[in-house]
Amino acid sequence: MIYPLVNEAVSMINSRIKIQPEIGIILGSGLGDFADTIDKKIIIPYEEIPHFKKSTVQGHAGRLISGYVKNKPVVIMQGRYHYYEGHDIVETVFPVRVLWGLGSKKLLLTNAAGGINSMLLPGDLMIIRDHINLMGVNPLRGENDERFGPRFPDMSTVYCNEMINVIADGMMRMGLGVKKGVYLALSGPSYETPAEIRMLKTLGADAVGMSTVPEAIVARHMGLLVAGISCISNLAAGISPTPLSHKEVTETADRVKGTFISLLSDIIPLL
Ligand code: HPA
Repeated sequence: MIYPLVNEAVSMINSRIKIQPEIGIILGSGLGDFADTIDKKIIIPYEEIPHFKKSTVQGHAGRLISGYVKNKPVVIMQGRYHYYEGHDIVETVFPVRVLWGLGSKKLLLTNAAGGINSMLLPGDLMIIRDHINLMGVNPLRGENDERFGPRFPDMSTVYCNEMINVIADGMMRMGLGVKKGVYLALSGPSYETPAEIRMLKTLGADAVGMSTVPEAIVARHMGLLVAGISCISNLAAGISPTPLSHKEVTETADRVKGTFISLLSDIIPLL
């Protein structure tokens, strides 16, 4: 039963942050710096939150940060849990349950991803139009708690069209090309082989990564409206002329940080 555990985490956070977020934001690999730009920040390290695990990935800070973007109250997860870290899949999505418990009605997910579609280049931002779950697990497996949502939640519209349009308009205002695509999640942590990437392309994937999809699934389970942005950090295996590395992922994220922060600052008040 995780519902009471979510409540304990929510009570502790509420005793510290004193705002009700309208939107929750999860910042992916190397994209955490956006959190530093928000107003009236209150920071809670994950270690201090009941039932939160320690985040182990480089480039993931592991802090919950509340505050305002313009006048919009937000709660940011600066760093996420990944299935490949060894956490149970239910544990990786625990923070999303907590964002819902804090009162968020919306969720913005961000990540770094490998580009499969030839239209995507390192440094591009891709709006997630839909996803393919090939992680081999589903975070809703097990007894269903109706207080969160139904046993068989619909996934026909995981990514909210209105939110997609707000993000696309923001990108256009910034003079960025608007690219939308399908994000496919694998469990990792090894990167893909070129043969796997050819397979994923045939399956309809534009970008590939190791996160986000379980979070989107539980968020929809609880009725949150969801949007997602992938920072294309590298060309996928076999397309990339060089071997893949986490260093390349964080370096690209670092390079687009300014653009990413400007985009989020612009769109979040409108979401
Ligand atoms: N594959 C899987 N996950 C990733 C990649 C990739 O190429 N880049 C960033 N995350």
